[in-house]
Amino acid sequence: MDGHITHQPLDRLKELLADELQAVDCLIRERMESENAPRIPEVTQYLIDAGGKKLRPILTLSSAQMFGYEGRYHLHLAATVEFIHSATLLHDDVVDESAQRRGKPTPNILWDNKSSVLVGDFLFARSFQLMTETNNLRVLSLLADASATIAEGEVLQLTASHNLDTTEDIYLKIIRGKTAALFSAAAEVGAVIAEAPESSLCALRDYGDALGIAFQIADDLLDYTDDNPSFGKNIGDDFRECKVTLPVIKAIENATQKEKSFWMRTIEQGEQTDGDLEVALDLMHKYDTIEITRDEALSWAFKAREALKPLHDDEIKFLLQDLANYIVHRLH
Ligand code: IPE
Ligand code: IPE
Ligand code: MG
Ligand code: MG
Repeated sequence: MDGHITHQPLDRLKELLADELQAVDCLIRERMESENAPRIPEVTQYLIDAGGKKLRPILTLSSAQMFGYEGRYHLHLAATVEFIHSATLLHDDVVDESAQRRGKPTPNILWDNKSSVLVGDFLFARSFQLMTETNNLRVLSLLADASATIAEGEVLQLTASHNLDTTEDIYLKIIRGKTAALFSAAAEVGAVIAEAPESSLCALRDYGDALGIAFQIADDLLDYTDDNPSFGKNIGDDFRECKVTLPVIKAIENATQKEKSFWMRTIEQGEQTDGDLEVALDLMHKYDTIEITRDEALSWAFKAREALKPLHDDEIKFLLQDLANYIVHRLH
């Protein structure tokens, strides 16, 4: 759809929030230091320098700005959500045995699993130290809840892998936990610190939830379809890890007996050989699974846009609404 909207909303948000984003970067660099264990800043700096999109801190800064916040704690909160995100990435790449992220070898490949797990733990703990500085119990509670929910989502995904009976409901629960919870909390805490009205907090919470779901569905699609180096990750990771993501669920729904045997061998038993990923992709094309999955992501993007409708008109609000479609059509 609309090629022209591709990079606009994110770039424009980055432009509008340039000073704050720079301050968040400084805070992150300052707080990742550790005199005692140099491995911590080494790994963290490497991950940061590889360059993430900064979606979550942008949500926090955007909602604080929309409600006219004039203090400094939105910077702490934005750094907190990026620290939480970085911690989950370090852990996630170990769990998924991924070799590439942000276009570079993953820290677990460059150093080792142990470093990724332990530095990830440190970043989680750091994020909690940072958020306590705001002295705001409500944001602490939101971010603590989100952190627990992310871990729950990751564990649910682990136990659902290899299971061809995984339903769309379970898939939704997984992605809502592992991804949408942090998007939702990131969007809400910026408005909490700005003392926005309850109804606006609710709108931002729902926006983040729907945005996160759309984002993860798109990510799961890219895992099969995006062989463009800008994706920055290896395609086929989910297939190799026997994850039952939405494109697979949709293909299994339609499978013939012979095709079912293919899914049983490759996903349930995890017995894969060269060429299986291509066969999986052919089956997805055969049943239009790619298009159907993209439509599902777009319908969540629509929900995200709708959630923000009740908020007062503001350039940032419109950009956040456009961001929802952008993330579904993104290239990486
Ligand atoms: C990656 O998130 C993890 C998922 C939830 C799919 P991002 O794509 O936002 O990661 P970076 O920070 O931009 O690399
Ligand atoms: C990442 O999920 C979610 C978290 C980091 C909690 P994925 O495993 O699907 O994301 P990528 O593809 O590795 O970024
Ligand atoms: Mg992963
Ligand atoms: Mg994962």
